[in-house]
Amino acid sequence: MLLHLLFSLSLVLTFIENGNAGITSAFVRTQWPSVDIPLANEVFAVPKGYNAPQQVHITQGDYDGKAVIISWITPDEPGSSQVRYGLSEGKYDFTAEGTVTNYTFYNYKSGYIHQCLVTGLQYDTKYYYEIGKGDSARKFWFETPPEVDPDASYKFGIIGDLGQTYNSLSTLQHYMQSGAKSVLFVGDLSYADRYEYNDVGVRWDTWGRFVEQSAAYQPWIWSAGNHEIEFFPNMGEVVPFKSFLYRYPTPYQASRSSNPLWYAIRRASAHIIVLSSYSPFVKYTPQWHWLKQELKNVNREKTPWLIVLMHVPIYNSNEAHFMEGESMRSVFERWFIKHRVDVIFAGHVHAYERSYRISNIHYNVSGGDAYPVPDKTAPIYITVGDGGNQEGLASRFRDPQPDYSAFREASYGHSTLEIKNRTHAFYHWNRNDDGNKVTTDSFTLHNQYWGSARRRRKLNKNHLHSVISERPSIARF
Ligand SMILES: *[C@@H]1O[C@H](CO)[C@@H](O)[C@H](O)[C@H]1NC(C)=O
Ligand SMILES: *[C@@H]1O[C@H](CO)[C@@H](O)[C@H](O)[C@H]1NC(C)=O
Ligand SMILES: *[C@@H]1O[C@H](CO)[C@@H](O)[C@H](O)[C@H]1NC(C)=O
Ligand SMILES: [Fe+2]
Repeated sequence: MLLHLLFSLSLVLTFIENGNAGITSAFVRTQWPSVDIPLANEVFAVPKGYNAPQQVHITQGDYDGKAVIISWITPDEPGSSQVRYGLSEGKYDFTAEGTVTNYTFYNYKSGYIHQCLVTGLQYDTKYYYEIGKGDSARKFWFETPPEVDPDASYKFGIIGDLGQTYNSLSTLQHYMQSGAKSVLFVGDLSYADRYEYNDVGVRWDTWGRFVEQSAAYQPWIWSAGNHEIEFFPNMGEVVPFKSFLYRYPTPYQASRSSNPLWYAIRRASAHIIVLSSYSPFVKYTPQWHWLKQELKNVNREKTPWLIVLMHVPIYNSNEAHFMEGESMRSVFERWFIKHRVDVIFAGHVHAYERSYRISNIHYNVSGGDAYPVPDKTAPIYITVGDGGNQEGLASRFRDPQPDYSAFREASYGHSTLEIKNRTHAFYHWNRNDDGNKVTTDSFTLHNQYWGSARRRRKLNKNHLHSVISERPSIARF
């Protein structure tokens, strides 16, 4: 392809505004071609040494952030599942023993997949760790979060639908410059399911090596998307989420979930709920029962920020995947409002979109308005399915822009949510623009619990300052 490795930019920075709805950014740029990076590229390089650990990644290992699950794959033989770790580089005072497993997919045989739960960590501490043996040993580090506390500040990144193209690489590199400490991943990881037969497993392996540069050093909080389902009767593969479940463990038992695909963690001042768009969620299903209970477990006095992750957006005005979130909306939206969820992140649509605080819970099939209305008690819905996978951008937004849509743009990028304290968080969407990270949509998020007039008074009584304005500010050019 002529434009391979080249991308040019057209500087169309005009915004079209319509009615009282939000902004449809008309920013247009030619992209990197939406093709996967070739297998031989250095971003997929296999680490040197016999049976060297590869595809190293970590995730939170417990409910409150004092444990991590470290995962990696050894290609040649099972080897050791031991993690050696400590407080300074090269001085590993502690060890933890993990487990090893493997699986097949069509005729592909996976490497040996190690998972090691490291518990009893101190908060707010940098740990160094080493895995593998002898000359093939590899060293990494990670930082634990601050103790769960209502005013703990913490910066999350949000990435979705990443894949393994040059656009994916651009997103990952920009994210790594953000200073965020943990990724909230909203589903669709490798896009390995775009391949057939043994290449599916091969592209899961390349993706694991690709994200290691970040995921070995900070937890990625996983949720599953449709590209994780991998229902391939033609290849004899009919167990949904097989590759994902073998490769990307989650700490679901710590939140008393019965399934790794939905769970919750608390980290710093945030309570994060991960839902599965592709598991049963209607009334009486395990996920429904679990979420009902988990929402009751949320203590906003300890974790003021209530964040929900899912793959399929509930509010989306793109032509792509329009209305696919309706089924989950009809079941859960009422709860999200009742429990004052701050923000819901989703992926799936390969573009960026942010809603106003709106709800559509008044409609029932025997009457009522079936249109979202402004609702201060509702979450903000943000779609960041713009990681850059091989399917390309979802560039056709519905016209006119609906009232509930505040900002939308079909470009690649990632978001960050920088929590300052119990009342304020700064949100940014960062477009991958021509090699730079450009903040395109940003606003101050006011906490839905501590932002209420009653609690503001309570806070002020405690001699804490909180200056709260209700209107988000939108970055404009
Ligand atoms: C797992 O690895 C063992 C040891 O190499 C091998 O005998 C077994 O067939 C593998 N299992 C699967 C499911 O690939
Ligand atoms: C459905 O909506 C109509 C019109 O708003 C209302 O009168 C009725 O009580 C609602 N029914 C239920 C079961 O909520
Ligand atoms: C919370 O952080 C915001 C933004 O940095 C600041 O303006 C506000 O005063 C802080 N509130 C408290 C109670 O510290
Ligand atoms: Fe998707």
